[in-house]
Amino acid sequence: RILKRQMECRRDIDRLNASFIEIYESLVLPQEEKAKQKQLLAVLEKLVNREWPQAKLYLYGSCANSFGVLKSDIDVCLAIEDANINKSEVLLKLADILQSDNLQNVQALPRARVPIVKLMDPVTGISCDICINNVLAVVNTKLLWDYAQIDVRLRQLAFIVKHWAKSRGVNETYQGTLSSYAYVLMCIHFLQQRRPAILPCLQEMEPTYSVTVDDIKCAYFDRVEKLQGFGSRNREPIAQLVWAFFNYWAYRHDYVNAVVSVRTGSIISKQEKDWTRRVGNDRHLICIEDPFETSHDLGRVVDKHTIKVLREEFERAADILQYDPNPCVTLFEPY
Ligand code: CTP
Ligand code: MG
Repeated sequence: RILKRQMECRRDIDRLNASFIEIYESLVLPQEEKAKQKQLLAVLEKLVNREWPQAKLYLYGSCANSFGVLKSDIDVCLAIEDANINKSEVLLKLADILQSDNLQNVQALPRARVPIVKLMDPVTGISCDICINNVLAVVNTKLLWDYAQIDVRLRQLAFIVKHWAKSRGVNETYQGTLSSYAYVLMCIHFLQQRRPAILPCLQEMEPTYSVTVDDIKCAYFDRVEKLQGFGSRNREPIAQLVWAFFNYWAYRHDYVNAVVSVRTGSIISKQEKDWTRRVGNDRHLICIEDPFETSHDLGRVVDKHTIKVLREEFERAADILQYDPNPCVTLFEPY
């Protein structure tokens, strides 16, 4: 009877796995969407270079870190070397230039936390946010992209977690929940912590890539093609990883003392970072260290109400994966 039960269990896991892979594949951005994004970038580059011949445009965020799901907007960074520029002036000028072309809904938001120009391209149908000189975001985008090349399970897990977070309304930084960027870092860290590890810690390895941005040295091993097969000693299928991820954040994470750190590939203490109390609006109720801006806690947007919401959602997800006969449907039910 035990053998029969084990075989049933095996079949359940196989079935769940197939469902998760199907969901992942339905979310992946098709090639032709990527071509459209490149096309829009080329148009923008031409316009920008008329005014600032030395300036460069970079894609960052989910359109460039390989964690982009269908229907995401694209994030663009305008990099101007000149240190003396006035960001808001450039922003308004940029909006002006774009307005006079065929682009729609051009809108400058100079007072936002990250000042941007928003626009929509009627040719490709793509919406886009352009920021200025946010080079750290371009560098952390590359770090995420490099991690994604090492083991496909990172993208699978992150797509499912992002999809869950969007469905459940816990992916809204302005409402006190976490950014997509924070969720991807949580996934990377989680896979660094599996035994055997599924991902290495690139920032602890001999650097092959190094840039200094805003006085922050960003260095890590980026020859990721050499790390193919790194995680192959760990054979955990995606269904098990999704279950373990939610179980960790529901029941095992030490919210009182622990900081999740992709930079070190380990858990470090709040004490060590001096993140033990509220400073201004930063409460540090769930701590996720930015891999380069190490003074930056991506959990700082979470307040005492939303930490409760977030933890209840983690518990809900963990319980569904444990007990629900049809977890792939229930998990993503709109809240
Ligand atoms: N970013 C950052 N610091 C933050 C939030 C975001 O540096 N606190 C940068 C990162 O480079 C990130 C990008 O801004 O990749 C976009 O952030 P976000 O919208 O959270 O992630 P996306 O990957 O674009 O996800 P989505 O598909 O939800 O748009
Ligand atoms: Mg984005």
